[in-house]
Amino acid sequence: MPTAPTPASGTASDTESGTASVTLVTGASSGIGQGAALEVARQGAGVVLTYRGNPDGAEETVQRIEEFGGTAVALPLDTARTETFPAFAEEVSRALQETWGSRALTGLVNNAGSARPAAFADTTEAVVDELGDVLFKGPFFLTRALLPLLADGASIVNVGSSSTRPFGMTPGFSAYAAFKGAVVVWSRYLAKELGGRGIRVNTVAPGPTRTRLGGDAFARHPELIAPLAANTALGRIGEGADVGRVIAFLLSEQAGWITGQDIDVSGGYDL
Ligand SMILES: NC(=O)c1ccc[n+]([C@@H]2O[C@H](COP(=O)([O-])OP(=O)(O)OC[C@H]3O[C@@H](n4cnc5c(N)ncnc54)[C@H](OP(=O)(O)O)[C@@H]3O)[C@@H](O)[C@H]2O)c1
Repeated sequence: MPTAPTPASGTASDTESGTASVTLVTGASSGIGQGAALEVARQGAGVVLTYRGNPDGAEETVQRIEEFGGTAVALPLDTARTETFPAFAEEVSRALQETWGSRALTGLVNNAGSARPAAFADTTEAVVDELGDVLFKGPFFLTRALLPLLADGASIVNVGSSSTRPFGMTPGFSAYAAFKGAVVVWSRYLAKELGGRGIRVNTVAPGPTRTRLGGDAFARHPELIAPLAANTALGRIGEGADVGRVIAFLLSEQAGWITGQDIDVSGGYDL
């Protein structure tokens, strides 16, 4: 890491015109981010993906993309460390140029995130700071840092959560859900402010999804899955690919008339 494979011919790269379809996905070393990165690549776009503590997971995402002829570059990024964002933007710019002969990103997925359940009465200032940095302040300032690299007409997808809804609420997520709610409101303002450049901004709200969230909570506590599946209209919890496909759709031209929306991707959780 970082991995910078040669671009596969015919995918995402058009060095003659200097344009390429390339999406940056944060937190693509597992779960929803990995699902989104794979689906975006399957639709023909190049992918810059990021990881924090799981380089092996990022390498797996790159390899799976290369297996079907796509092109991906993995870069390390801690979204809680805003002071690193200017240097990160330069790295992204270099990767765009070297790998795709391009200067701009056509898509950005602010997906990286973590959860730390705590009853409100036990939620410390340190926990609120930590969650706020990763879930809200990070995407906010990362997007600002990457704004000069975003092509006119680009698409941004921010990953929210069904925990922001007034149904299916699980105690212990007051800080997590509040910051995810902030992401939804911020995204709406971003859609308004960036609409003049043709940039669309939407949020997805995944329901319970089998990922490594919460320190691999579903692997450590598989007994959590059945009740969540029973409370889902389609009878199971989500997989990273279920959400990844919707993210890829929102990034695509097919979703060109959708902006400022918060879309539930939960299989009908708690209907
Ligand atoms: N799973 C669910 O049920 C669910 C439901 C609603 C919303 N979400 C949201 O979906 C998003 C993706 O989570 P997931 O469920 O796919 O969990 P996951 O499998 O744990 O993936 C989280 C990803 O975010 C990265 N990450 C975590 N903290 C980071 C930080 N400080 N800086 C940079 N990257 C960081 C992780 O990187 P490393 O592993 O490399 O450190 C990993 O790639 C999160 O925003 C989460 O809140 C999940």
